[in-house]
Formats: sequence, structure tokens, C-alpha cells
Amino acid sequence: MNLVFLGPPGAGKGTIAALAKERLSLLHVSTGDLFRSNIKEKTELGKKVEQILASGNLVPDEVTIEMVRERLKKDDAENGYILDGFPRTIAQADALKEMAKLDAVVNFVLSKEEILKRLSGRRVCKSTGRTYHIIFNPPKVEGKDDETGEDLIQRDDDKEDAILNRLDVYEKSTAPLIDYYRAAGLLVDIDASKTPEKVLEEMIAKLG
Ligand code: AP5
Repeated sequence: MNLVFLGPPGAGKGTIAALAKERLSLLHVSTGDLFRSNIKEKTELGKKVEQILASGNLVPDEVTIEMVRERLKKDDAENGYILDGFPRTIAQADALKEMAKLDAVVNFVLSKEEILKRLSGRRVCKSTGRTYHIIFNPPKVEGKDDETGEDLIQRDDDKEDAILNRLDVYEKSTAPLIDYYRAAGLLVDIDASKTPEKVLEEMIAKLG
């Protein structure tokens, strides 16, 4: 099964993908995680995209499409995957049509008020990528990763200016994909305001 997770920043796409990949035995491909790992490793791609991510703007389509194309060629993508954060523009969706046959596009629906609460409280472990929330999903020890004990950080793009820009970019560039995939008969709307476990169950029930 090949799925796309679509939705505004902070709607819980990464959180649900981490649960769903175990339940459904799928590969989780997050374009945001791929860019962040390139930034951490200081690759050429990482240097090129670091400022773009910090500001909350989108990486150019040709760079993103090429990165996803290469990732989906690997053997571990053969048995199905969740694309989390890709596509984000009509051009990316058109390119994906040539690369993959999708089974469904899960649209995470969440109010702006809730998005702001989730993003401003998110903390991450830089080395493992594990995600927490200071209120909704706190670590066992404040400010520390549950398994490695490393310090948790706030992502650069979770600062107020970048959050507002990301929401703007989402409305302009990504929200049009809702109609694009609804017209293709692939869209499955999910109420993302419930607990992660309930969101996962609703999604699995709707996917049949
Ligand atoms: P990316 O990392 O994809 O960011 P995003 O789409 O903005 O998504 P987020 O990771 O912010 O949110 P999420 O929906 O995964 O929420 P999460 O599960 O963490 O992209 C980053 C950047 O990379 C982009 O801005 C762009 O520059 C670039 N990029 C990436 N893809 C690109 C593309 N295709 N084209 C061009 N550029 C691209 O949850 C958020 C918080 O809420 C967490 O603290 C979590 O603990 C909490 N939470 C989650 N679910 C629940 C729940 N059900 N109840 C309570 N709390 C919850």
C-alpha cells in the first residue's frame, strides 16, 4: 500500500506515520526528515536547504522531486510506503503520478488554533528525530530524550515567525492538493484533533 500524508504543519503527520509504519508494515519517508538529516551531515544538499527550512519556505520542486525519486528506487520501498510531507505542490504531485501508484491520500484536518499549540510546544531529539510535546506528549525527564537522555531542542522552524510563514506557504502551495486528490478519488479526510491512537484507528478504519 502506498499512502500520502497531507496536511498543515503540526497536524500530526509524523506522529501518526511513526505509529502507522509499525501497524501497517510500511516504510516511512518524510521529506522534512531527509532534509534535516542532510543538514546534520553537512552534505551539499544540506548546505543548500538549511536556510530555506529555517525560514519555513519550500525547497525548490526539482531538488525535492529528485530526492524522493532516488529514495523510492531503494529496495525497502518495494513493499509500500507512507510519503509524509510530499507532495506539497501541484508540480510535485504531477511528478509523483509518474513515479508511483497511490492507494490513498490521508488529509489531516486540524484548526489553526490547535496547530499553533502543537508547534510551539514541540521538542525534538536532534540525533534520533524522536518528537515530543511539552504538554501533550512530555518526555519522562523534562528536556531529555527518553532513550538516549540527550537534550531536546526546539526546531528553528517552530519559532513564531517561521510557523506563521509555514502556515501561509501551506495555504498557498499545498492546500490546492486537497481538491487535486479529491478529484482523483484518493482523498480520505481524518479528524486530527483526537489522541494519536484515535487518529490512527480512524485512519485504519477509513482505509479499510
Ligand atoms: P516537515 O518536517 O515535513 O514539516 P511539516 O509538514 O511542517 O510538518 P511538521 O513536521 O511540522 O508537523 P507534523 O504534521 O509531522 O506534526 P508532528 O507529528 O511533528 O518539513 C519541514 C520543512 O522541510 C518544510 O518547511 C520545507 O522547508 C521542507 N520540505 C519538506 N518537504 C518538502 C516538500 N515536499 N517540498 C518542499 N519543501 C519541503 O506533531 C506536531 C506536534 O504535535 C508534536 O509535538 C507532537 O507531539 C504533537 N502531536 C501530534 N499529534 C498529536 C495529537 N493527536 N494530539 C496531541 N498532540 C499531538
